[in-house]
Amino acid sequence: MSAIFERRSVRSFLPKSVEPDKIERLLRAGFEAPSAHNRRPWEFVVISARKDLDAIAEMSPYAKMCTEAAAAIIPCANLSLSLGGNAAPEDTWWIQDLAAATENILLQIVEEGLGGVWLGWYPDKARIDALSSRFGIPSYIVPFSVIALGYPAKSAPKADRFNASRVHYGAWD
Ligand SMILES: Cc1cc2nc3c(=O)[nH]c(=O)nc-3n(C[C@H](O)[C@H](O)[C@H](O)COP(=O)(O)O)c2cc1C
Repeated sequence: MSAIFERRSVRSFLPKSVEPDKIERLLRAGFEAPSAHNRRPWEFVVISARKDLDAIAEMSPYAKMCTEAAAAIIPCANLSLSLGGNAAPEDTWWIQDLAAATENILLQIVEEGLGGVWLGWYPDKARIDALSSRFGIPSYIVPFSVIALGYPAKSAPKADRFNASRVHYGAWD
């Protein structure tokens, strides 16, 4: 799958909106992710209003590119749907589920000729609270990441990252 090898974080965007059918395909990619016990505990919040994207940029020191992004997708965990079916602290399989959904969307972003970047949100409580408060996200829903996206302003450099010294066949040594 070439998207895996083409994908790089894009943090600079053209002032051009993203077509709704492309956004829907990104969401469909998120819904296709694997999840523990097939719980699929995700919900997605789509943000495209300029003032909201600018507000997200203020919530994290590492989210400034949101001021240029055409849209953001916020993959969230619905703790009532996750493995365990509750918000128990030890029930953390959803973290892996949401990471898989986030990566699926990032790969579909490449397929759509778009660019995007995964912004770390969970487990930073201040960022989660700021996002939940602005967008009315209830307490049993955890905003896991923010994906800032749009048409890329420039292509990102790529290099082969394969590292044979980190691969262990059969056993460690
Ligand atoms: C959990 C996680 C959190 C990240 N948070 C941010 C972030 O807040 N801001 C940002 O610009 N990039 C963020 N990134 C993107 C990484 O910086 C990026 O993936 C890494 O530098 C490798 O570059 P590449 O994506 O181009 O391969 C995050 C990536 C992951 C997986």
